Amino acid sequence: MAPPSIRIPDGFVEELKARIRPSDVIGRKVKLTKKGKEWVGLSPFTNEKSPSFYVNDQKRIFKDFSSGLGGDVISFIMETERLSFMEAVEKLAEEAGMELPKASPQAAEEYDHRKRLQAVCEAATAYFEDRLNSSEGMAARTYLEGRGLRPAAWKRHRLGYSPDDWRKTIDHLKSQGFSTKEILEAGLAKESDRGGEPYDAFRGRLMFPIADVRGGIIAFGGRALQPDAKPKYLNSGDTPLFHKSRVLYRYKVAREALGGGDGGGLLVCEGYMDAIALAEAGFGTSVAPLGTALTEDQLSMIWRAGPEPVLCFDGDRAGLGAAYRAIDRALPHVEPGRSLFFVLLPDGMDPDDLIRARGPGAMSDALEERISMSELLWLRERDAEPLDTPERQAGLEARLMAAAAQIQHPGVRAAYERDLKSRMRDHFWQLRQASRGRSKGSGDYRKRPGTGQFPASGDQGQVELKGGAPAKLRGLGQVVRAVDTPELLDLGAETLAAAVFADPDVSRMRDAVLDFADAGKPIDREALSAHLAEAGNMRAASLLNEYPQTPPIAVDGPEAREWLIALEQYMVAGRSAEQDTDTGMDDAGADATSSPSAWRRKHQLVAERRALRARMNEAAGKVGES
Ligand code: UTP
Ligand code: MN
Repeated sequence: MAPPSIRIPDGFVEELKARIRPSDVIGRKVKLTKKGKEWVGLSPFTNEKSPSFYVNDQKRIFKDFSSGLGGDVISFIMETERLSFMEAVEKLAEEAGMELPKASPQAAEEYDHRKRLQAVCEAATAYFEDRLNSSEGMAARTYLEGRGLRPAAWKRHRLGYSPDDWRKTIDHLKSQGFSTKEILEAGLAKESDRGGEPYDAFRGRLMFPIADVRGGIIAFGGRALQPDAKPKYLNSGDTPLFHKSRVLYRYKVAREALGGGDGGGLLVCEGYMDAIALAEAGFGTSVAPLGTALTEDQLSMIWRAGPEPVLCFDGDRAGLGAAYRAIDRALPHVEPGRSLFFVLLPDGMDPDDLIRARGPGAMSDALEERISMSELLWLRERDAEPLDTPERQAGLEARLMAAAAQIQHPGVRAAYERDLKSRMRDHFWQLRQASRGRSKGSGDYRKRPGTGQFPASGDQGQVELKGGAPAKLRGLGQVVRAVDTPELLDLGAETLAAAVFADPDVSRMRDAVLDFADAGKPIDREALSAHLAEAGNMRAASLLNEYPQTPPIAVDGPEAREWLIALEQYMVAGRSAEQDTDTGMDDAGADATSSPSAWRRKHQLVAERRALRARMNEAAGKVGES
């Protein structure tokens, strides 16, 4: 972190550039070979195969013909390490042995003081690392191994162990020449409130050193080793060096891993262990906030590193809530090309769980299915309330437009309004299709198939109210479709299984279909209705028999998608019905009750469609081979 009160005097930067040979600094990042007066190498900004990156020590510049970037050694460091100008100057000045001038005596003093506190933290880090490898670190080592982390990883992340003692850390740091006051100020000791001696802040914990943007240690997180210990994680309190709302764990290294290309952005997860597990699995751009929701400062740090970061949250309610909060934080600040993407992990897992249970490939898959901020915003508002009355539908529009209004950039705001409105129109259209299918399939189901695939003209904008008795058969058309075209189950067996049908006989018919599919029995009307009749479900059997034959549809065509979308509505309808009986529908409650499963459902659908595509490709490949 650059000391804020220090300004760079005239001439300092020129002097700095004069002292540094560009090929020395750049040569550490890019393999350079001498060619005449210049150095040549492969661009660090693109994936080029033949070298077009030049460094000229006389002119003190670099020029990259593949990316078009060029500049001096400061801009090179800014680009490749994603540092601000001030940060880059500070870093290079340190290397060149140039003292950054101090604007005032107070600033100079403050600067020295901060350096001193950083030295305390550095000494503590080394001490904790040493203790981890000593006999008293045995339990911590066992714990780490148990979580799949090997000694090389401890070293990479500088993990350590704080002795289970009230004084050992203080005593050690004092022996290194630090005063009790400095140790207290660095957050490594705490003042006793009973007037006794200060005591060690971290005792018997696994230690995670937290670095600032330049890599200097400024604070710690400490994890308890016992599963039931409280708090599970203890962080340094705020100190002159450390404000947890302005720091991200692994920021410096993750930024370096991101490199100079324009590729995306950081991968933001929720915790220390997740950030480490991701990095160890090859996702080196992982960072984490320190146990709080993302702050605006953290967001701007994240965007400074790259324009399209991915926020990866645990697949539980808390994770979804955190994702929603991040949307509200980010909305005012989105700009052309600058946004957030979201991943909610499957089955309530965090990245560490997922990688350990299913491997890095599962993590890549999850990242591939990231969704845009506008889509998550849409899902959040869509699922906040049932949409079964015009008032509620208008409410949805009002919520969406209020959210878009948060966006400061006029162009992006207009784009959001268009995007959200079109999602809403599509959704209402689908709802109408589904309910038309239901009412036709129920009231008049002998005469025509259950799903109307296309809207009749003139019907647009009409809201169909929930019917009385005939509505009881809603969903019958979808189930019968699956009987007549069993291939649809490849696409939506899980959705069918999760659908909620009001009529118990429709549910029974569905169950029979899925039982047959599970048992590998061919699905046809005759066998199914015989099965239902045998089990005493005469009405279900006759509903199936009497429903008109539905035309076969192609599983990879638009009708199949419509079928799936229509089916999806039964899950919405089913849950909305439960929610209606819920009392306090405050915002948080609504999010919490409706959305995790809504999201997971979406996730599932994406996965299903992907699996289907894969099967289709495979099939196409086989045809090609034979
Ligand atoms: P989690 O409770 O999700 O833990 O906390 P985790 O990262 O999965 O940790 P393991 O896998 O059980 O070790 C996420 C983050 O919230 C903060 C920490 O920064 C943690 O990494 N946290 C959590 C605290 O600050 N204090 C706590 O008591 C718990
Ligand atoms: Mn975890």
